[in-house]
Amino acid sequence: MRGATHGGDVYAAARESGRDVRDLLDFSASINPLGPSPAARRTIARANELLCHYPDPACWELRQALATFWHRSPEEFLIGNGSTELIHLLPEALRIRHLLVMGPTFSEYASAMARVGGQTSSVMAARADGYRPPLEQVLEDLAKFRNKRNNTNPVDAVMLCNPNSPTGQACDAAMVRKLARQVARLGQWCLVDETFAEYCEQASIVPEELPARTLVLRSFTKFYGLPGLRVGYVVANPRIITRIKSQQPPWSVNMLAQRAAQAALQDSRHSRRSLRFMEQERARLVNGLERLPGCSLFPSAANFLLMELPARLKATRVVSVLRRQGLLIRDCSQVPGLNDRSIRLAVRSRADNDRLVRSLSEILGKSGA
Ligand SMILES: Cc1ncc(COP(=O)(O)O)c(C=O)c1O
Repeated sequence: MRGATHGGDVYAAARESGRDVRDLLDFSASINPLGPSPAARRTIARANELLCHYPDPACWELRQALATFWHRSPEEFLIGNGSTELIHLLPEALRIRHLLVMGPTFSEYASAMARVGGQTSSVMAARADGYRPPLEQVLEDLAKFRNKRNNTNPVDAVMLCNPNSPTGQACDAAMVRKLARQVARLGQWCLVDETFAEYCEQASIVPEELPARTLVLRSFTKFYGLPGLRVGYVVANPRIITRIKSQQPPWSVNMLAQRAAQAALQDSRHSRRSLRFMEQERARLVNGLERLPGCSLFPSAANFLLMELPARLKATRVVSVLRRQGLLIRDCSQVPGLNDRSIRLAVRSRADNDRLVRSLSEILGKSGA
């Protein structure tokens, strides 16, 4: 797989442009535009006494809070230093040597496999289908992938990002469960990354019993707006949790992160406001972007939009023009399965989104698109 860079490196962009980080508008990482919950901010402001002890290695209170939130047992949760840490623990913990991903998707799954010398294969969603995740095709192909694929190792795990990044499409929870049951019957792992699922909770499989050999990844980065603290978690059967935990370095999750995540989870008022805001503002941004001539937008259930620029405009060029103006967007031209005109835009505040649409409109106007 070709490598694809992440969004969100505001510090590098600030160094490069001589600007202050606060003067950049980051549309490249998709973070709740309302910011973290006020309760999480207050927790951090009062957190002095948390600094002079090691963090709780069991993340006990946060796991209790998650258990209450999801009506599950605390033993079914493992907290990580962002879901990225957990993604990187899985190949070793579950002895995955060959992962099948539904692309185009997040690059970290393949990176985690590469780190352990494993292999990643993809079933790609089709542009003609609006990049709808190819679940049915995976269901059909599973046995084939299990036996032999191009004379390589049998597949031992399937990864689905739901809703998917960077395409934004979500699969129905019933379909995901069906896939997971089929994957389990073949003795494979089913890994479901629900990092953006707070924006379409009906697509989540966490509220019900998980099929055997199924793991779900969640994060406090996006919806809860805490990217700098690094908190994610995995939900799975306690025996699987113990296996992953045994691979995790001690004290991975600091105490500010544990307490702020707990406060954020319990602030249902901020969660409701955030969801309402996103539904309205995403629709408004879609409306603005749809007026740009020659661009194609793909439907999204998350807090970002995948867009294709007009035929003569390359993503790389638009990304660098916007970057000079202090606007960071995600260049998706290197994501396997997408073309060189693909960009991903986070939905931010009303004023920021208007600024982005204006800038894009000027760039398209100058290019004669
Ligand atoms: C689909 C997906 N999963 C997981 C992550 C990692 O999130 P974090 O490590 O911040 O929890 C990201 C971050 O961009 C992502 O887009």
